[in-house]
Amino acid sequence: MKPTDRIFTALDTTDVQVAVSLARDLAGYVGGVKVGKEFFTANGQDGVRQVSGVGMPVFIDLKWHDIPNTVAGAVRASLALKPAIVNVHAAGGPAMLRAASDAAAEAGSERPLVLAITVLTSLDDDDLRAIGVGSNVTAQVVRLAKLAQDNGIDGVVCSAHEIEALREACGRDFKLLVPGIRPTWAATGDQKRVMTPADAVARGADYLVIGRPITGADDPVDAAKRIADELA
Ligand code: C5P
Repeated sequence: MKPTDRIFTALDTTDVQVAVSLARDLAGYVGGVKVGKEFFTANGQDGVRQVSGVGMPVFIDLKWHDIPNTVAGAVRASLALKPAIVNVHAAGGPAMLRAASDAAAEAGSERPLVLAITVLTSLDDDDLRAIGVGSNVTAQVVRLAKLAQDNGIDGVVCSAHEIEALREACGRDFKLLVPGIRPTWAATGDQKRVMTPADAVARGADYLVIGRPITGADDPVDAAKRIADELA
């Protein structure tokens, strides 16, 4: 894969036209696009179809977390959109993870990668204690990643700072998709523990999710090109 194929650009907007036009501009400069709860809740499958009509791989980031039957149903319903990646919360437990993986397999050769969320990066050790989890964040991330891997999940969404621990625990083939990426020239915004694209890839990230450094730039294509140069 070429270095830029690793980049999924987050289209965090409710506006279909903005999303489609960004996707069109960025085609060829990044590997794919990510639509999440904001875009999907506003625009549904029809909106995703308009974005995927551009022809780039789409990551549908809906972080499903429900009983196994319901999550399997959501994964199955997403297959109509031929997503490249979908995701679920590992905290949904072994049966839910297995149900998600099995439902994705119904797409045969077009099976999307199913990734798991471990501990949201907005939570710290105190937050885990508040919800009754005794381990610290890193231990809980590793525990949930292994649980996901044992139940057919392809990889996890993780902080760049968790890459090393996860590679050690889950091996080379487990996919690591990393948001919170900031080139040195971009504003960090609300992201607290950031890493540059090149450093994250050097540490072992398979995919990078990059939103505002590209979508908020005066010239998104130029920003994507600069990131590509850094990765090359
Ligand atoms: O604009 P920015 O590069 O910060 O966008 C990052 C994207 O990745 C957003 O869509 C955000 O919701 C998502 N994300 C994140 N941190 C996580 C998980 C997902 O920033 N831990």
